[in-house]
Amino acid sequence: MFDVRPLSGSFGAEVIGFTIGENNTAEQVEAVKALWAKHKILLFREQSMDEKVLVDFSRQFGELEIHVRTEYLSPHHPEVLYISNIKDGDRKIGILADTEVGWHYDQIYLPRPAVGSLLCADILPPTGGNTEFADMAAAYQSLPEGTRERLKGCRAIQSYEAFNRAYSVPTNDAQKKRSPDIEHPLVRRHPITGKDALYLCPGMTTEIVGWNATESSEMLEELFEWCVKPEFVYSHQWQAGDAILWDNACTMHRRDPFDQNYQRLMKRTTILPAAHLAVPV
Ligand code: OGA
Ligand code: MN
Repeated sequence: MFDVRPLSGSFGAEVIGFTIGENNTAEQVEAVKALWAKHKILLFREQSMDEKVLVDFSRQFGELEIHVRTEYLSPHHPEVLYISNIKDGDRKIGILADTEVGWHYDQIYLPRPAVGSLLCADILPPTGGNTEFADMAAAYQSLPEGTRERLKGCRAIQSYEAFNRAYSVPTNDAQKKRSPDIEHPLVRRHPITGKDALYLCPGMTTEIVGWNATESSEMLEELFEWCVKPEFVYSHQWQAGDAILWDNACTMHRRDPFDQNYQRLMKRTTILPAAHLAVPV
């Protein structure tokens, strides 16, 4: 239905000629869903940054999460989270400001982690702030057989606190209660495609459950290094009006820092899995 252009060697595609929210038909949305599952990340250029349009579109992919960081939600649409270094007086309007953001899966620390995020570039600095994505299914498939065997059935601890300490600002007490450390399978079967992917990330995965500390950290270090090899990574240089829909069950992402003297505003909706697919397996 749409022309697509590959973004990099192993994954990701630009969808040509699709305008989010322009009377999208059910068939078009189904076609986008199929492309999303196939390519893992989809880029749409020259899109509207109208929040209602973004929310209405995103909702067709699943229920939307109201992010636990309520202080960074759009005042107009709570389904939209601002990622930004812009201040309104003393108040930061968004999260993640302008420093480096380490590799992570959005919400891997929740019992029902998001399956997708739609991130839209509204205001950009002239350079910097690229976002990189890693194909964790390809990274898993190409692991040596012996390593895949060792990982079978393993679970790991995911910690939002660890991520916040390294890359973000602390949560308040109520938010902490909603996001305690949690364990999930280390290899996740994709809820739609059924394909396995490494479900871990340097920013949030702290230990393999039941392994001794040395073996756990050695294995995690080895996997962290493995999955960010250039053949698994796509680096996106944003243009204003870009929207990227990523598959949050089999890709992780990070962001480069940028000059704090420039403003950057990204708007994100966060897409939840259907209830029967909610818990990672
Ligand atoms: C996110 C995120 C990185 C960026 O929106 O989940 O990690 O490029 N953003 O701002
Ligand atoms: Mn993120």
